[in-house]
Amino acid sequence: MYRLVYVSTAKTDLSAEDIGRILDVSQSNNHERYITGFLAHNGRHFMQALEGAYEEVREIYDRILADDRHEGVVQILGEKIEQRAFPEWAMNYFRVDDRSHGAMVIQRDDPVDSLLPKDMPRELLHLFARFMRIEPLTV
Ligand SMILES: Cc1cc2nc3c(=O)[nH]c(=O)nc-3n(C[C@H](O)[C@H](O)[C@H](O)COP(=O)(O)O)c2cc1C
Repeated sequence: MYRLVYVSTAKTDLSAEDIGRILDVSQSNNHERYITGFLAHNGRHFMQALEGAYEEVREIYDRILADDRHEGVVQILGEKIEQRAFPEWAMNYFRVDDRSHGAMVIQRDDPVDSLLPKDMPRELLHLFARFMRIEPLTV
């Protein structure tokens, strides 16, 4: 099995509906292929992990690369794995900058880790936890 992580920049102001459509398609496509993973969004950038059979992951990643709802897609990790980090999630999603309550959901000292599976590899946990604590740049 293979795990791939990339980061990208969302096209200006994707709506909640746009994100909802991405997640619906992702969950159904990934479920069919037994691809699992996690998509984090800070309002401006995405970081996504995809894991599954190598060919399946590459095929979905090729589609993602061509998707014009984001740009500047850069793969930051690609590795052979024995175990999934997100075995339960066809694609789970977490948006960090939900300001609906007037505050960032994640504060600097919050245990971001509690959102992520307990037994996932430490370096992957750190990668996502650090991404999710970045204050998005204002544009
Ligand atoms: C940030 C982002 C993450 C995505 N993640 C996935 C994914 O995990 N799985 C997937 O099938 N499509 C994902 N997509 C959508 C694909 O780019 C593409 O639209 C979709 O796979 C097309 O599916 P369809 O041919 O069944 O319509 C993502 C798109 C974006 C912008």
